[in-house]
Amino acid sequence: MKQIIAPSILSADFTNLEQDIKAAERGGADYFHIDVMDGHFVPNISYGPIMVKTMKKITDVPLDAHLMIENPDKYIPDFVKAGADLIIPHVEAPHDIYRSVQLINNLGVKAGIALNPGTPICCIEPLIEQIDAVLVMSVCPGFGGQSFQLESLRKVRKIRELLDDLKPSVHVAIDGGIKRQNVEEVQKAGANFFVMGSAVFGQEDIENTVRELKGVVENR
Ligand code: DX5
Ligand code: ZN
Repeated sequence: MKQIIAPSILSADFTNLEQDIKAAERGGADYFHIDVMDGHFVPNISYGPIMVKTMKKITDVPLDAHLMIENPDKYIPDFVKAGADLIIPHVEAPHDIYRSVQLINNLGVKAGIALNPGTPICCIEPLIEQIDAVLVMSVCPGFGGQSFQLESLRKVRKIRELLDDLKPSVHVAIDGGIKRQNVEEVQKAGANFFVMGSAVFGQEDIENTVRELKGVVENR
């Protein structure tokens, strides 16, 4: 399966956004991860479709929009219009996730679903046929720079098994506290799509950090 490094721009330096993105791009970033927070679903506010639109002007690397928002259906068309390539709403948001996934698919974009650490795996089963990625949160969503929760390894393993049974092409993405030191363990558990914020943009040499991470996950 393709191994994907997806730097999360939440930790980028916004006064130098273009430089940071270009450095990660040169290092071989496969996706850029856009964390969208509404201050309701999570206790933090970040940015919306305008960031996707801005990123599209900077890079041709695909963009995934992680929607940590209560009402994704209202904004999904705007994210599609802005240029998101993969849109990932949360299963816990107070809405019908099946409807959101259908909406994303009908608009011609790839759909993923995100699961908080406390959410059981069973809820993804009815959705597997319609999705391209499952995003496992390995921290409580809302902030960058938190510590990886070890319990998520078991969840990654189980989800990979379930997907191998039902639709092997679906990516298992992991988000929260992923670093050079734990990326191999998470990969071994079955993840192939690694979202990394502070481990990429917190570093002095962004380009070589991404290059090294890509080397690690591709050579295992
Ligand atoms: C957390 C976000 C993450 C965050 C990851 O709510 O979903 O994507 O940017 O940051 P790190 O890699 O620093 O934990
Ligand atoms: Zn995220």
